[in-house]
Amino acid sequence: MSHADDHEGTRRDFLYYATGGAAAVATGAAVWPLVNQMNPSADVLALSTIRVDVSGVQDGSQITVKWLGKPVFIRKRTEAEILEARATDLSDLPDPIARNPNIPGDALATDENRALDETGQWLVQIGVCTHLGCVPLGNAGDYSLDGGVGGWFCPCHGSHYDLAGRIRRGPAPENMHIPPAEFVDETTILLG
Ligand code: FES
Repeated sequence: MSHADDHEGTRRDFLYYATGGAAAVATGAAVWPLVNQMNPSADVLALSTIRVDVSGVQDGSQITVKWLGKPVFIRKRTEAEILEARATDLSDLPDPIARNPNIPGDALATDENRALDETGQWLVQIGVCTHLGCVPLGNAGDYSLDGGVGGWFCPCHGSHYDLAGRIRRGPAPENMHIPPAEFVDETTILLG
């Protein structure tokens, strides 16, 4: 049975095969037009959920997939990245809200409330700057770009996001938003 058969008639899922950072992005770009041809109704496609195979994602790397026309960053964080994100003092956060629809209510922006899984290894977020919508650059671990925040940097107007995707400096008003997401098996993330 294919993955699509699981939801026949209710959802239009499709699967990204992620074998590594650059390869996964290329695969996504190649798959998208084909899926559009197979599903000619754009409004149906806009409602779709997608499944992302993350079995090939290495520690400390990120893949980007397209969901509802937006980039979604899926990062497999290292132990050091998790520890640093979790050591952050919440009083240092300009936006104290988790921005995570997977947690009811306005949960605080702790790293635990933003990570996808309990270990904190996986961080999934919509890769759109909350200032005016540019796509931030991933620079986890590269502190030269952002003077110490070490997560993502939006060059449009200089917004700095930390290793949990929380805004730390610059004009962006909110943490990067998290999409509806869950693991449906050990290596597959369902978005939407
Ligand atoms: S759009 Fe990102 S800082 Fe303005």
